[in-house]
Amino acid sequence: MHAMQQYRQRQRRRKLIIAGSVFVVLVTAIACIVAAAAKKSDNSKYADKYVAKYNKSDSDWYDKYAKKWVDKYAPSTTAKPTTQEPTTKTEEASTTMESTTKYSTPDYNGHTTNGNKAGSAIKGLLKHFGLKDAADVTWAHAVNSQEELDTALGDEKIMMLEADVVMDPVRNIPIMAHPPANSSDLTLEQFLTHSLKHSEEKGIKLDFKQDEALNASIAVMQKAFKARETPLPPIILNADILVGPNSNENQTTPVSPDLFFTALAPFKTTILSPGWTTKFIGNASEGYNNTDANEMTKLIQQNIVQQDLTFPVRASLVALNPKPMHLLLNQMQDKVSLTVWTAKNDTYDPEDLGFLRLYAKKVFFDLPADEVEAIKKASFVNKIPKGLIPDIGNDNIPF
Ligand SMILES: *[C@@H]1O[C@H](CO)[C@@H](O)[C@H](O)[C@H]1NC(C)=O
Ligand SMILES: *[C@@H]1O[C@H](CO)[C@@H](O)[C@H](O)[C@H]1NC(C)=O
Ligand SMILES: *[C@@H]1O[C@H](CO)[C@@H](O)[C@H](O)[C@H]1NC(C)=O
Ligand SMILES: *[C@@H]1O[C@H](CO)[C@@H](O)[C@H](O)[C@H]1NC(C)=O
Ligand SMILES: *[C@@H]1O[C@H](CO)[C@@H](O)[C@H](O)[C@H]1NC(C)=O
Ligand SMILES: *[C@@H]1O[C@H](CO)[C@@H](O)[C@H](O)[C@H]1NC(C)=O
Ligand SMILES: *[C@@H]1O[C@H](CO)[C@@H](O)[C@H](O)[C@H]1NC(C)=O
Repeated sequence: MHAMQQYRQRQRRRKLIIAGSVFVVLVTAIACIVAAAAKKSDNSKYADKYVAKYNKSDSDWYDKYAKKWVDKYAPSTTAKPTTQEPTTKTEEASTTMESTTKYSTPDYNGHTTNGNKAGSAIKGLLKHFGLKDAADVTWAHAVNSQEELDTALGDEKIMMLEADVVMDPVRNIPIMAHPPANSSDLTLEQFLTHSLKHSEEKGIKLDFKQDEALNASIAVMQKAFKARETPLPPIILNADILVGPNSNENQTTPVSPDLFFTALAPFKTTILSPGWTTKFIGNASEGYNNTDANEMTKLIQQNIVQQDLTFPVRASLVALNPKPMHLLLNQMQDKVSLTVWTAKNDTYDPEDLGFLRLYAKKVFFDLPADEVEAIKKASFVNKIPKGLIPDIGNDNIPF
């Protein structure tokens, strides 16, 4: 009898445990399903609906997804259709320098830029200046004389020094000047010696205007970089290597892409800045197009470029067609950025550049401070609640 009672009790307990377990499993499963559904409907409410996951081989991505989204939230920033017929057929990129040319290839083994490994130079640049937003990097543009260099070095607010390098036809050395100027009181060597003094933490962007100037600058840079005992500040090496919008090939010849990538390959911790020759001709201007973006991407892939990149783009031409910028920024997500620049008489509406604020950590503005402020202020991105900002690439979300 006693044994029987004990047996029944055990049976009852076992049933209870089984029932309890089943209950817990069921509740957990239901909770999971509900949570997943809630998450899904939450996403599909906005981001998923307007911006699909980026498909790297799909160049119509912007039209299909981003445009819908931009139209909804910021109709005024939508790409303006380019109605003009191309007037002249521009030539392919100049590759006039024969590939047999002996470039001076230094065994520059790369002082690291603020401790970076090759390929993390964009992040390193922001880190160097203690910034999260690339738009907060400040620039002195066309620092091409002793006076301008002294002024820029003495200005605490300036972070990056942008300057142009051409060949001095008389002395046959690289000097700081913007064509058509062909003389200067500042040589590249002097520019580097002063701006790379150990106490200096300002970054440098050099814009090489000619093949000869780039070739002759390699040895000068190598010597100056090696001479610095502390890690180098951020360094950007720029040249226009493709014929771009509205440019007249009779007036500007791009630097040879082959020379650019080969000669600069040893400078592993710098940021390379390959761009397009351009012109702004007011109403008749065409913006960058997808072909421009894709040609650049192709060159970078063909040359197996190891460095991080920043594409120099002209504000007035970016404003005319944002789509190629999305392409450039998304095709090689982790290693690319843009540096937006402007020429004196260019005109554009800051609101048309507002879309670039979607990529806050990847778009630098080498523009007058008031223009940068205007872009920041005008950007539709400011008006979007945080949760609604689409996922259009790694690391691009403003704060
Ligand atoms: C990406 O786009 C290309 C071109 O439109 C298409 O052929 C391919 O199937 C797409 N891939 C995916 C994973 O959607
Ligand atoms: C340098 O520029 C000056 C003034 O524009 C011009 O007269 C001269 O021919 C140029 N020199 C060379 C070698 O191009
Ligand atoms: C490039 O520079 C090296 C020396 O630095 C020189 O020997 C060579 O001739 C130059 N090549 C061209 C095409 O200017
Ligand atoms: C794109 O622009 C380039 C110049 O930047 C021009 O040569 C080319 O014809 C354009 N392509 C299209 C499809 O409009
Ligand atoms: C460039 O120069 C050539 C030869 O002088 C001329 O035929 C052509 O029209 C010029 N191109 C432009 C865009 O001015
Ligand atoms: C540019 O466009 C504006 C308005 O669309 C017009 O008033 C002006 O005459 C045009 N300028 C040129 C040079 O075509
Ligand atoms: C800008 O425009 C002014 C006035 O039209 C002119 O004098 C000046 O040369 C232009 N500057 C450039 C860089 O084109």
